[in-house]
Amino acid sequence: MERTVKIMDHPLIQHKLSILRDVNTPTKDFRELVNEISMLMIYDATRDLPLTQIDVETPCGTAHCKIIAGRKLAFVPILRAGLGMVDGGLKLVPSARVGHIGLYRDEKTLKPVEYYCKLPKDIGERDVFVTDPMLATGGSAIDAITQIKLRSPRSIKFLCLIAAPEGLEALKAAHPDVDIYCAALDDHLNENGYIVPGLGDAGDRIFGTK
Ligand code: PRP
Ligand code: URA
Repeated sequence: MERTVKIMDHPLIQHKLSILRDVNTPTKDFRELVNEISMLMIYDATRDLPLTQIDVETPCGTAHCKIIAGRKLAFVPILRAGLGMVDGGLKLVPSARVGHIGLYRDEKTLKPVEYYCKLPKDIGERDVFVTDPMLATGGSAIDAITQIKLRSPRSIKFLCLIAAPEGLEALKAAHPDVDIYCAALDDHLNENGYIVPGLGDAGDRIFGTK
């Protein structure tokens, strides 16, 4: 099966993303919007979950219904900023497990530096959704997914809000088996490795650290 690379052009996602980008959007609104957009993205990224048939007794008869076929999910945010996307996913799939991968980009080399990794023990039985709002050079996403693959999950999908063409190409080449979902594909990276026009530093804007 061909892997998915999807730019999510749903009007609700695009509307909310435009507010998110605005330099004047305050931290509280920014955090809520990241949550809402993530929920909409995860709604779509889970559309291939397999269903199974059950019969349900209603007050008026038997309904032949469908439920999700015992699929186990895990969300793995890339710290810090990926954390902002987890609540949206847990609202839709409350029984999902959550792993964490801590990476930061070295400001000079732009290479990811890993400082934490804690994944669910049974990740081998789970479909994993890796979250990070920004796919810039792609280094952080590539590294995080390499770490997760060492534990052989059933599948991996990567979700970001904004991707740069450089990062998208790098991630596609490094992990050809990973489905990729983005709310927008932007123009380029600047000399500091920031996405243009982007939204600035996602972690600082979610957590109000600048
Ligand atoms: C940001 C972002 C990604 C990474 C993207 O994190 O959340 O993890 O940069 O850049 P890349 O694609 O070039 O690797 P940052 O390093 O700023 O850490 P933070 O979330 O802790 O602020
Ligand atoms: N990390 C961010 O938070 N923003 C960017 O534009 C690039 C990397």
